[in-house]
Amino acid sequence: MRFNSARRGAAAGAAAALLAGGLVALVGSQASAAAGCKVTYSVNQWNTGFTANLSVTNLGDTLNGWTLEWDFAGNQQVTQGWSGEFSQSGKHVTVKNPSWGGTLATGATATPGFNASYSGTNTAPTEFKLNGTLCTGSTGPTDPTPPTSPPPGNRVDNPYAGVKAYVNPEWSAKAAAEPGGGAVSNQPTGVWLDRIAAIAGTGGAMGLRAHLDKALAQGAGVIQLVVYDLPGRDCAALASNGELGATDLDKYKTSFIDPIAAILADSKYASLRIVTVDEIDSLPNLVTNVDPRPTATPNCNTMKANGNYQKGIAYALNKLGAIPNVYNYLDVGHHGWLGWDDNLGASADLLAQVAKDSGSMANVHGFITNTANYGATKEPYFTIDDTVNGTSVRQSKWVDWNRYVDETSYALGMRQRLIQAGFDSGIGMLIDTSRNGWGGAGRPTGPGAKTDVDTYVDGGRTDRRIHLGNWCNQAGAGLGERPKAAPQAGIDAYVWIKPPGESDGSSTEIPNDEGKGFDRMCDPTYTGNPRNNNHMSGALPNAPLSGHWFSAQFQELLKNANPPA
Ligand code: BGC
Repeated sequence: MRFNSARRGAAAGAAAALLAGGLVALVGSQASAAAGCKVTYSVNQWNTGFTANLSVTNLGDTLNGWTLEWDFAGNQQVTQGWSGEFSQSGKHVTVKNPSWGGTLATGATATPGFNASYSGTNTAPTEFKLNGTLCTGSTGPTDPTPPTSPPPGNRVDNPYAGVKAYVNPEWSAKAAAEPGGGAVSNQPTGVWLDRIAAIAGTGGAMGLRAHLDKALAQGAGVIQLVVYDLPGRDCAALASNGELGATDLDKYKTSFIDPIAAILADSKYASLRIVTVDEIDSLPNLVTNVDPRPTATPNCNTMKANGNYQKGIAYALNKLGAIPNVYNYLDVGHHGWLGWDDNLGASADLLAQVAKDSGSMANVHGFITNTANYGATKEPYFTIDDTVNGTSVRQSKWVDWNRYVDETSYALGMRQRLIQAGFDSGIGMLIDTSRNGWGGAGRPTGPGAKTDVDTYVDGGRTDRRIHLGNWCNQAGAGLGERPKAAPQAGIDAYVWIKPPGESDGSSTEIPNDEGKGFDRMCDPTYTGNPRNNNHMSGALPNAPLSGHWFSAQFQELLKNANPPA
């Protein structure tokens, strides 16, 4: 899992737009009486201009002639359009079908695009209308049927506040068995329900009830579960492919979510606050790793087309959200993935749509960043607002136009955007700090030299990855901040969801019965792919399968811990 998507260069994006322009693809057909549409809007921008690509899918009856409309938030001005007739009046843009493509059948997609100028901030439009109908991504009620009332329970604002978190004895024993591991082996970590057999316990491991019982015995007030078994799991990478095929949605519901919900609803556990981290990486993949992006993968295209990620997560949110002491947290990737303008807003809007599909946005209590990733909690020696000789650090190779340089600024920025998308203003963020410490001998002790932006950023950054898109068993990483409730306003907790010492994926192919594939991003000799902009993987050698204990990595994390262990 956790691959990420390098932002494409503006030039490559523009070329892709021209190639894609003009295609009207029939992606399916279904009988429908209702009007409905779905629009995606992606942008490649530079200082004063941008190229935008739209994909407009008609979910309703066949349209004989179509008109798409939106309002810009700022001073954006279309200078040239294609695959549609563009006109703009003030902030209002109207695109009429091109003369050669007036018919948009049910399920068909039109892909107009345009170049534009702007100054200041290039905020993406959030509302589009097709022939007067607001495009919400659906034509009517979605699956599951929404209840009308918000989920029950008197949930506290921050489930981590004032209580002890559950220490997983299985992880704790492995950590304690490593030299020096006793310094951190009493920390709370996530319990991963990563396959159906994990519910009952497999291969001698504790099952869900055993963990909950043990949490009660420990006097814990909060337990952290990762719900992770979607159909077609990990569509942009191979290391955490799972047991369910792309179309196994019913099995996901009845053999995975329902049994978990039945156990969590047991009144015996009513005193525990149960945090669930739901299906990491999946929804962000549907934004960044699908056509027409150069980072697209066939599996992510499949999952986007069949809708099973959205349907599975909406179902899980609905079932788990109905249990009064469950706190659902959705994954929002990390700054090195969704921190670019064309990824952030689209991801927030997709999460909002899935939350609505679950029946109530209140089924989502908060969001988590950096799960199993390596982005620093705070970069101490530079911020996104710094400049060198008048040039913004955003223009450095490392930052590459991202809006954020670390997880704290990203979590708070994403939080604002999620609230704008309709989530409650009380939502809290979690940051997975299990492996983002970047301490040890190589850690900079002050800002880089102000010779040019690259020297400044590379000299001062504590995140010492080869590229921000690298995600597998990173060499040089250290344990990060110890788990902690309410470290600052808007952040519910620093958490260790990825248990330190558990591998991200094997360095070479290892046959197995877990559905795990071999992703070359875990091979230290690999020279990369479009999602890390073709850089070396930076992975440690000799790693076992994802989730398996990797002693050498644990020791490296301990050695490079920051704060020190
Ligand atoms: C693996 C899971 C494992 C989890 C925690 C994931 O990469 O796919 O099987 O439980 O990491 O280590």
